[in-house]
Amino acid sequence: MAQRTILTIGDETLTKKCRPITDFNEHLATLLDDMTETLIASGGVGLAAPQIGVLRRVVVLLDINKDPEEVIELINPEVIEHNTLEETVEGCLSVPGKYGYVMRPTWAKIRAQDRHGNWFEREGEGIVAQCFCHETEHLDGHLFTEKVTEYVEVEQE
Ligand code: NI
Repeated sequence: MAQRTILTIGDETLTKKCRPITDFNEHLATLLDDMTETLIASGGVGLAAPQIGVLRRVVVLLDINKDPEEVIELINPEVIEHNTLEETVEGCLSVPGKYGYVMRPTWAKIRAQDRHGNWFEREGEGIVAQCFCHETEHLDGHLFTEKVTEYVEVEQE
């Protein structure tokens, strides 16, 4: 596995629409492993392939509602259901140090393929539901900054 560099806002790659995965091969497995390593090293909760310069519909996220935390791999994901939107604070590894209010559901259901190509559905609550939305938007070239109504100061630990 290898840690990859996370691109930041201003890089054109982050504005591009990503292509679906059609081959569930060793190359995809390496990409997923590298993304997980990069995500965990970053301390974030979600990472989309374009954030490391790969224009493919691949996401890894941490289900922090599970103990221990569980890594979820999402290939060709699509949010298929969600509840009403509420105001919540959000950030992004590609927009370091910036946090702002956005409207997100508190529950969402996603449909995706696993690394072997099998389709599955998964529900998420709270930050996981938020992450489903945020990360799939990355795959269409969108950053949360487009949705921010107001930026907030967050104390750094
Ligand atoms: Ni992000």
